Amino acid sequence: MELFLDTANIDEIKEAASLGVIYGVTTNPTLIAKEGKDFKKTIIEIASIIEGPISAEVVSLDSDGMVKEAQEISSWHPNIVVKIPITWEGLKAVKRLKKLGIKTNVTLVFSPNQALLAARAGATYVSPFIGRFTDITQDGITLISDIAKIFDLHHISTKIIAASIRTPMDAVNAAKVGSDIATVPYRVLQQMVMHPLTDIGVKRFLEDWKKVTQ
Ligand code: E4P
Repeated sequence: MELFLDTANIDEIKEAASLGVIYGVTTNPTLIAKEGKDFKKTIIEIASIIEGPISAEVVSLDSDGMVKEAQEISSWHPNIVVKIPITWEGLKAVKRLKKLGIKTNVTLVFSPNQALLAARAGATYVSPFIGRFTDITQDGITLISDIAKIFDLHHISTKIIAASIRTPMDAVNAAKVGSDIATVPYRVLQQMVMHPLTDIGVKRFLEDWKKVTQ
């Protein structure tokens, strides 16, 4: 499973990029708004730091508006993937964008049928939301697992991005059920590195080393 970073914060992206474990970045209108900076400048800056796919989302609700926005957004950098919500109009836009050679990440996916439809319309990626699904007492990991099984069984090449990840266990479980990618917030990435036994081990090694060197 590849790891993407789910943020529009440039400092977080730079720091995470230095670890060499982040292959792409996902953003959404909320994450962009949180940083309070210009959308286009932010996306171009992210693309200058991370060499892989950078997802940037449209805000139009009709397919004509989505396609127009997608054409503009995708012209900013070759690595940009346009996020389109899984709606009736969204599917129309995905089909047209596929023909235009523009990569799409179909977002706000909460059912296997939505994922199947997005894939059949020509989506490059689908983003099932684990956390928001779990928030309403549904099983986000079963959602990922079902989509992975369907895509595998029917030889669908659309990649699954496990999104709305809230805990390190979400990432582990998404990997176990076959998600291609997990997009993780910076805080979760930090938690994924940590283990109390590692901290205790490092401390003990240093203490023992001091005994023989002092
Ligand atoms: C990424 O593609 C999604 O927009 C993001 O993971 C949503 O996360 P949230 O449910 O924590 O807002």
